[in-house]
Amino acid sequence: MKKIFVMGSINIDMTVSIPRFHLPGETIEGTGFSTYTGGKGGNQAVAAARLGADVSLIGCVGQDDFGLRYIDIFRREGINTDGVMTVSGAPTGTALIEVAQSGDNRIAYVTGANGALTSEKIDTQAQRLKEADIFMFQMETPLPDAFHAAEIVKRAHGCVILDPAPARPLTQKQLRLCDFITPNETELALLTDMPVETIEDATKAAQKLIADGAKAVLNKRGAQGALLVTAGGATLYEGFQVNAIDTTAAGDSFNAGFAVGLSMGKTVGESIRLANAVGALSTTAAGAQAAMPSLEAALALMRQG
Ligand code: RIB
Repeated sequence: MKKIFVMGSINIDMTVSIPRFHLPGETIEGTGFSTYTGGKGGNQAVAAARLGADVSLIGCVGQDDFGLRYIDIFRREGINTDGVMTVSGAPTGTALIEVAQSGDNRIAYVTGANGALTSEKIDTQAQRLKEADIFMFQMETPLPDAFHAAEIVKRAHGCVILDPAPARPLTQKQLRLCDFITPNETELALLTDMPVETIEDATKAAQKLIADGAKAVLNKRGAQGALLVTAGGATLYEGFQVNAIDTTAAGDSFNAGFAVGLSMGKTVGESIRLANAVGALSTTAAGAQAAMPSLEAALALMRQG
């Protein structure tokens, strides 16, 4: 089986359900509170493992209860945690999440131990990283260091998939390391400083990223699906209609579905269809990792849709 390596943030999500997003200065009553395991790196790893992939995770947790329990949870999901390091001096990363009745979310995170994922620590995993067939990372850990890992993978001819969240502009050197970059509409606009309202806007913005060095852009468009843009053109892969109650980590699940599709030898188009199904199903239950589907569930949705 091909090896998937995920590197990135490991957070504890504190989630409040609210009827609607409120205004600055306004107080509203929440309808529920839960604590979930989250973090974009942890989420991608768990989603890929649930789909049956061979997954290794690289990241940092704090020397606290959350961190220790978290490593155990990853192991129970079948994830190789040899690259999950426990660091002192910072707590396990935390995210405060509001989920409105519409299913939409707003997230503020505090990096904590994720900030300790430096090039020095990554180098302790360099030999293992060279074995990665597919490497997924995001932008909640120190950025130059994260690209240092991508460089190790690229030199060993692995496939690099970047989820550019939280988005900020990238250099051409960084973009050249990306086989696939998977922004949503907001992230695509932030990466390019271009408006992204319509499919045409998204295509133009994606073409800018390609001109700057990215090989392919996979624009996640929620219920609409995903738009693949390469030097050869743009294709929209339609999404699946589900009853979304919490969209937290839908993007992470999408990325995992895509990577697992590629690792199974599916074409890029087939992998995007699987990604759309996994992303959609992850919105049908509350929480980040709590909501991630099995391969069987994703394939069943694909058969229906
Ligand atoms: O993508 C969703 C994730 O973003 C949450 O789990 C939260 O921890 C933040 O990292």
